[in-house]
Amino acid sequence: MSEVSKVESIRKKFRGVFGNDPGVVAKAPGRINIIGEHIDYNDGYVLPVAIDKYIIAAAGTNEVPGCYRLYALDLEESYEWVDGQPAATRPLWVNYIYGSICEWQHHNPDKMGIDLVFSGDIPTGAGLSSSAALEAAVALAIGKLWNVSMTQKELALHCQKVEHEYVGVKCGIMDQYASIFGGVDQAILLDCLSITHQYLPLEMGEYVFLLCDTGVTHSLAASGYNDRRASCEVVINKLKSEIAGINNWRDVTLSVLENVRDELKPAEFKRASHVVREIDRVKRSADALKNGDLAMLGNLMYQSHNDLSKNYEVSCPELDFLVDQARKESGILGARMMGGGFGGCTINLIDRKKVDEFFESTARAYQERFNLRLRSYMVHSGEGAGLI
Ligand code: GLA
Repeated sequence: MSEVSKVESIRKKFRGVFGNDPGVVAKAPGRINIIGEHIDYNDGYVLPVAIDKYIIAAAGTNEVPGCYRLYALDLEESYEWVDGQPAATRPLWVNYIYGSICEWQHHNPDKMGIDLVFSGDIPTGAGLSSSAALEAAVALAIGKLWNVSMTQKELALHCQKVEHEYVGVKCGIMDQYASIFGGVDQAILLDCLSITHQYLPLEMGEYVFLLCDTGVTHSLAASGYNDRRASCEVVINKLKSEIAGINNWRDVTLSVLENVRDELKPAEFKRASHVVREIDRVKRSADALKNGDLAMLGNLMYQSHNDLSKNYEVSCPELDFLVDQARKESGILGARMMGGGFGGCTINLIDRKKVDEFFESTARAYQERFNLRLRSYMVHSGEGAGLI
């Protein structure tokens, strides 16, 4: 379905549910990440790309002060509440919107109520940041209705805060930033320490990014994520307090880690060594992309997976299996798990001529090994978040 028809069907639904036209429509994309995993919250660099799959949110003000009425089109679920009387527990999808509204209440002295409908085509649970896209689309739409003035960076930080405080995942800034700052044919080299970026042209010749979706989300995903983050904080706080000249992860080298190895738990040491190596890999990957050296980029992706699996321990048997399949294939330069881990997708840097053959043989092997159906997505870059 074209974007125009998607927007029209959301507008139509809005009219059907609320009886008038939405005042504003906003969209925000999902993202892939070429490399730089679990280091956005560890002062690192990351290299995401916004994709051409979006969440679209249509919203308007209503006549009832402090009343919020939501409709999730794809789930066919509705939810409403009135200021001061939120239910103690809410469906997960509501929290992304509830959080944005709560955070911006002070911009709404007249207590204008909000009606909102959203829908999207970003697969959920696949590590493509449908959550960040929902946060960004909703925040843009509500921000417009309530006249909130903000920079794109403030918008990204607002969305991250919603995820931290209303969803409970202590994520880094990568997903929200990529959704807001993304652009067609652009990778974003995001410096997560200064929260600034530069764009790198995505010139890949005969190569494309293919995602293979394991179809699984292991239950450890949220707790495992917060746990990794907490253990990295323990290490960096220790290093900062004990070693002069260390202010953040950029100042840490592998030899610094070796020197304190005995003072760290084995898991802390392994995780920290991934952080140090991955920061370096992203810098080298950005150079490889700039120089058109895709073989080098692919190699770094394989190395990243190895660390994520063996040392950061955020992979799972399904992801490892798919990366091993890719390693056997001559038309693939690199592959790794993508996003938070414990399921979701692998990202494969593959010769476009090999896509069908690789996918068919891998899907067969995956079915035999796990009795699960493999899905794949060919990724195209897309526009960053904005009002339509
Ligand atoms: C999730 C988080 C991001 C990032 C990745 C792992 O997508 O939302 O902030 O930490 O995991 O790199």
